[in-house]
Amino acid sequence: MKIAVVGSLNMDMTVTSPRIPHKGETILGGTLSFFPGGKGANQAYALGRLGAQVAMYGCVGQDDFGSQLTDNLARAGVDARWVMRLPDVKTGVALITVAENDNTIVVVPGANAQVSLDYIDSVADQLRQSDLVMMQLEIPLDTVAYVTDLCAKAGVPVLLNPAPARPLPPHLLEQVRYLTPNEHEAALLFHHQGPLDDLLVTWRGKLVVTLGENGSAMADEDGRIICTPASPAQVVDTTGAGDTFNAALALALIRGDEPETALRFANAAAALSTEKMGAQAGMPTLDEVRKRMGD
Ligand code: RIB
Repeated sequence: MKIAVVGSLNMDMTVTSPRIPHKGETILGGTLSFFPGGKGANQAYALGRLGAQVAMYGCVGQDDFGSQLTDNLARAGVDARWVMRLPDVKTGVALITVAENDNTIVVVPGANAQVSLDYIDSVADQLRQSDLVMMQLEIPLDTVAYVTDLCAKAGVPVLLNPAPARPLPPHLLEQVRYLTPNEHEAALLFHHQGPLDDLLVTWRGKLVVTLGENGSAMADEDGRIICTPASPAQVVDTTGAGDTFNAALALALIRGDEPETALRFANAAAALSTEKMGAQAGMPTLDEVRKRMGD
């Protein structure tokens, strides 16, 4: 099974802090570290760690960060040769504060903003030959829509992780095979204020909502709600947990796992990923996930 990830690559500049600062406040932090990140690269890396055949599509600059990010993907077995190195633009960076078992993130897109329709045309054959294409929203929305359309025409399912949150055109929501927002993203996408179960049943078999400490939920094709609790974890850094969840979920769904098994697998992978600093350092192997699930 071949998975393609089309998305962002960032260098994460991560500072630990005793707490999340208030607006207008200065506080003293702990350590500053540079970690490979970006939602797209994180998802690709997590898939590589889980043993999937995965290729990354996106753009970086012709700078040291760009080389470090692609080298790191290759170390996890990700096919990173399609990542384009662009002149005159810097690799994306994310400024991350880690505190209170959570984080805040500001992304400076850099080369991620240049993932163009021409670039997609140049890799279209590879995308059409994939068994699943995964995307997020840290590259231009036009590009996400273009890839979704290309995949729809080729019969390739798309998993869209709609993060960071932004409104999406209804036809895009219809076209994707799987949509994986968190609760806040789901409320924004669907202008939804009622019980989450109603939304899950309306979008049965497609919508998977992550619920932080409460795990994740979806409705199966019969409209039965499946809600699986989060796996316990010794949390160090939650950065990349959502990306690990998406990667593990994608792998489980395309290998044909039942929804409940797929959610449990993704929850366990996400929990493990939080136990080390940095988005990618804690991403588990298949054996580690199985062990955590008690299988
Ligand atoms: O999902 C976590 C990621 O969001 C970080 O690695 C950061 O780069 C931002 O893209």
